[in-house]
Amino acid sequence: MTSPVRADLLSDTLTKPTPAMREAMAAAEVGDDVYGEDPSINALENRVAELLGHEAGLYTPTGSMANQLGLRLHVRPGEEMICDSLAHVVRAELGAAAVFSGISSRTWVSQRGLLDPQQPIDLMITGAGAYQVNTALVVLENTHNFGGGTVQPLEAIRAVRAATREVHVSMHLDGARLWNAHVATGIPLADYAQEFDTVSVCLSKGLGAPVGSVLVGARDAIDEARIWRKRYGGGMRQAGILAAGGLYAVEHHLERLADDHARARRAAVAFAEVAPGSIDPTSVETNILVMDVSVAGWASAALVAAALEEGVRFYAVGAKAVRLVWHLDVDDAGTDHAIDVVTRLLRSGPTS
Ligand SMILES: Cc1ncc(COP(=O)(O)O)c(C=O)c1O
Repeated sequence: MTSPVRADLLSDTLTKPTPAMREAMAAAEVGDDVYGEDPSINALENRVAELLGHEAGLYTPTGSMANQLGLRLHVRPGEEMICDSLAHVVRAELGAAAVFSGISSRTWVSQRGLLDPQQPIDLMITGAGAYQVNTALVVLENTHNFGGGTVQPLEAIRAVRAATREVHVSMHLDGARLWNAHVATGIPLADYAQEFDTVSVCLSKGLGAPVGSVLVGARDAIDEARIWRKRYGGGMRQAGILAAGGLYAVEHHLERLADDHARARRAAVAFAEVAPGSIDPTSVETNILVMDVSVAGWASAALVAAALEEGVRFYAVGAKAVRLVWHLDVDDAGTDHAIDVVTRLLRSGPTS
């Protein structure tokens, strides 16, 4: 019989609001946000814009909506955005950029999602005239989710920014986990964010709020995004009750992301010891661990099933790799349990 899940490493979206967060939510002042009258949403939007060094912010129900609003600000129908082939905006937003905004996409292939600035620089085509598709936007992701929580080097981002600025190509950052990049490197959030025209950040991943993201940018861009948010059906009313959870998360759960990073690294060291070649522990920079379990003879789906039998839940990425994600609701004891189970399975290999 499968035991109850003791370490749920499926995703950092699983977190439940803490009692203190629930109290902040229950006490939130609210108003009608479609009229701009929800004080809790206004406070959150202003605080996130301030932290990221942009003029204005817009609260959205999801990270996908924040990204999609951001993309459409920069790209006209029939133009293209370019991003790496594992980016969330092309892998996991269900073609929304094409469906809603007529945006065409091209991708470059990266290692672990890590940005090599020459790749977007070589890929973009500007002034294409009546023959080829014109590149209007470069999208980067920091940290990189499917790449394994990879932190993008600031110098690489700056190199892309310098090249795009010359040819008037915009830049959008999918910063769902920019918080993690900031905590891992100590680089201020605004130093990353100022290299982009728009940035989306998620409150409902490692920060632990139940709902919401914020899109930041210049005032006029955010005013336009606000119109499109309503058009997309994202104009919520007394949603300050949700935004208060997000603001609480920003103020109280940011620095603790370092605990998630340390636990992920500890697990990576243990896994590398029993299955050399499965993972380079130094590549685990934040809260996401992706490892190749085929080197230990496992198919990813089989290892996922065997670990679940023992109360450890994670995710198969393709046939050979698995992804484990640390967050607010996995503590040291949960991490110890996950390490015990997964190292034993890696060592033994599949039994039949
Ligand atoms: C990098 C990245 N961007 C955007 C999103 C979208 O967030 P949401 O699930 O709130 O739409 C996710 C969700 O996992 C993500 O990992």
